[in-house]
Amino acid sequence: MMIVDHYAVFGHPIKHSKSPRIHKIFAEQTGQTLDYKAQDVPAEQFSAAVAAFFANGGKGLNCTIPLKELAWAYADVKTERAYMAKAVNTLALQTDGLILGDNTDGIGLVTDLTGNHDITLAGSRILILGAGGASRGIIAPLLEQSVHSIVIANRTVDKAINLAGEFTAKGLITGCGFSDLKGRQFDLIINATSTSLSGQLPPLPEALLVKNGICYDLAYSNEPTVFVQWGQENKALKSLDGLGMLVEQAAEAFFIWRGIRPKTRPVIELLNKERKL
Ligand code: ATR
Repeated sequence: MMIVDHYAVFGHPIKHSKSPRIHKIFAEQTGQTLDYKAQDVPAEQFSAAVAAFFANGGKGLNCTIPLKELAWAYADVKTERAYMAKAVNTLALQTDGLILGDNTDGIGLVTDLTGNHDITLAGSRILILGAGGASRGIIAPLLEQSVHSIVIANRTVDKAINLAGEFTAKGLITGCGFSDLKGRQFDLIINATSTSLSGQLPPLPEALLVKNGICYDLAYSNEPTVFVQWGQENKALKSLDGLGMLVEQAAEAFFIWRGIRPKTRPVIELLNKERKL
């Protein structure tokens, strides 16, 4: 009898998740036998649902909004990048029976920027909008790319200053409010606020982006997000959303579980084609 390894993504809501589709394509492409389901898990049921999943032979989980911090607390052992992110999007059953927690979001973003879009991060001045969980997850992987500096700007200024303070040992990073951005310029602006989902934009001054600069929205949508539109209006060389990051973080999770790297380009191209239809 063929043994099928079980994987899943837990989140709330989860109905529109693209992860089952992405992992199914990865499995076909790499000849791996596995199944991957989406399961709606509210926060208060998280621990019981994860325990049941692994007790029933599950091998690995992805956790998404609003469960990443709970997954971080649940993991028996954590990678350094997960530890710094204080959030876990990938759980993996290890051979010793312990549950490993990792965070593949940041490396997913870096791979999308550098690998898929040929963007050089080394030496660049980066602005991150927002100081919540999404920002926290990408800071260490960006600093590891020898960037010049990172500025975190947030509506609640203290949160930006405190978050930056946690990473000062890893590179040049400061926090501020949106009004402090006047007169400053950045090579890459990343929107990590939750404003895109509500169709809003933080208040951004004129000429914030250098000529031929890059804009990247961690959120993605079938239509250009308001931040992607802002990038286009501000003459960004590229104004991208987070679809590529989604596929890349999935590929990294697949690698953790299966030890094999799927090809991401065809999957990104397919998902992009579908949303243009
Ligand atoms: P996530 O885990 O997705 O990052 P979060 O931790 O709730 O979610 O953080 C949301 C981020 O979006 C925060 O930086 C928040 O700013 P505050 O810290 O000041 O709340 C930011 N945000 C949400 N709505 C916003 C708005 N209308 N304008 C500007 N920033 C907003």
